[in-house]
Amino acid sequence: MFITFEGIDVSGKTTQVKLLKDWLNKKGCRVKVTEQPTKNMETSEVLREHMKNPNTEPYVDALLFAADRALHVERVILPALRKGLTVICDRYIHSSIAYQTSMGLDRDWVISLNSLFPKPNLTIYLDISIETAKKRINERGKELDKFEMADFLKRVREEYLRLKSKRFIVIDGERSIEEVHKEIIGVVNDFM
Ligand code: ADP
Ligand code: TYD
Repeated sequence: MFITFEGIDVSGKTTQVKLLKDWLNKKGCRVKVTEQPTKNMETSEVLREHMKNPNTEPYVDALLFAADRALHVERVILPALRKGLTVICDRYIHSSIAYQTSMGLDRDWVISLNSLFPKPNLTIYLDISIETAKKRINERGKELDKFEMADFLKRVREEYLRLKSKRFIVIDGERSIEEVHKEIIGVVNDFM
């Protein structure tokens, strides 16, 4: 099973990925948790350096995220799936569709650029309002990066919500951590 988590920044992905992993482990499932953008591959460094620039070309962003994804799929995701592990990936293809389209790129181009990658069985999208995002970002006390500006995040959220489908489940991420976790377990159970 290949599960991905999506949502705007601070929507609770990291928190919920960990809780789901612990729950799956208790049920006897072996789980590989991983994330995009990657942290320790050739592409990670290039991507990180590139993203420090506040005025990058959106199509170059899309290509670099796709290159990082390609390496990650080959080196981490497919090998883990072949070993029979459940893979949980924090951000995947839908991040490119939502973020890069919100930067002005053609939606179909972004989708086709990412069309060769394996599709997740299930995507959990944690939906929070921009007000909640602002509050959580302020609490974190760090400066906003270019992907965290309120107007931009509003567009990203709209793009995400357009993706809703049988395999792209929208979950209200405004409730308590425990309530969100319970709903995620219900959704995952239905897919197992
Ligand atoms: P993401 O990985 O999507 O950026 P995190 O899981 O790191 O999000 O959560 C961002 C911040 O919001 C953290 O400080 C976390 O403790 C807090 N948080 C996560 N889920 C909730 C929730 N349901 N209610 C309130 N705060 C939350
Ligand atoms: P990351 O550092 O993982 O942030 P977070 O902890 O909020 O998930 O991701 C960096 C940023 O990269 C994030 O704001 C979303 C953006 N991003 C894209 O624009 N396109 C993509 O394909 C991916 C994977 C991430």
